Amino acid sequence: MLITLEGIEGSGKSTQMRRIAHHLNGRGLACTLTREPGDTPIGKKIRAVLLDPANKELVPMAELFLYAADRAQHLGERVIPALRRGEVVVCDRFFDATTAYQGYARGLDLSIITKIHGMVLEGLRPDLTLLLDLPVDVGLARARGALASGDRCESESRFEEEALAFHERVRSGYLSLAKAEPERFCIVDATSTPDEVTQAIIGAIDARLDASL
Ligand code: TMP
Repeated sequence: MLITLEGIEGSGKSTQMRRIAHHLNGRGLACTLTREPGDTPIGKKIRAVLLDPANKELVPMAELFLYAADRAQHLGERVIPALRRGEVVVCDRFFDATTAYQGYARGLDLSIITKIHGMVLEGLRPDLTLLLDLPVDVGLARARGALASGDRCESESRFEEEALAFHERVRSGYLSLAKAEPERFCIVDATSTPDEVTQAIIGAIDARLDASL
């Protein structure tokens, strides 16, 4: 089973990833926690290019292909082998992030993105996508707080430096994707407390797991 977590900056995905792993292990299920971009040695190098705020000249099409390259490597090296071992794979961001960020927010043609996804994903689709949704000003304040406190390093701040309007397009892009595929997406109110968010996430995961037994 493949579960993906999506959301704008500051939606609290990292905290929830750890709690999901704890819950799945408690149910006796082996799981692999992973993320995009950067969960393979090659992906780490791609991530450094993508998130470095010094790379202001990176054009949207190059950005798109770098995310696709990271994903192809990630699928081949991490996701597909773990799924073949029968594990639950939980991924912090996946292909919906490309549609939201490079498509809706950067303005690249959605049909090009769909074509690239067809090549890279080869039909793989998440069984469940948890969208942690919250207002952009709240998310960005949290994300910029993490930068100021050193919880996230400055060398990864290229997207945090984007304007509010960019992040508004990301958020509404995600909401459009969720509306188009309500059976795959579960929208979680990320303004709730971390414990409440965990409860909502675990409820959705358990329902999906129980339905697949
Ligand atoms: P994060 O892993 O710390 O959330 O940072 C990843 C950043 O990359 C985040 O700002 C979202 C962005 N991103 C895209 O623009 N497109 C993608 O396909 C993915 C996976 C992430």
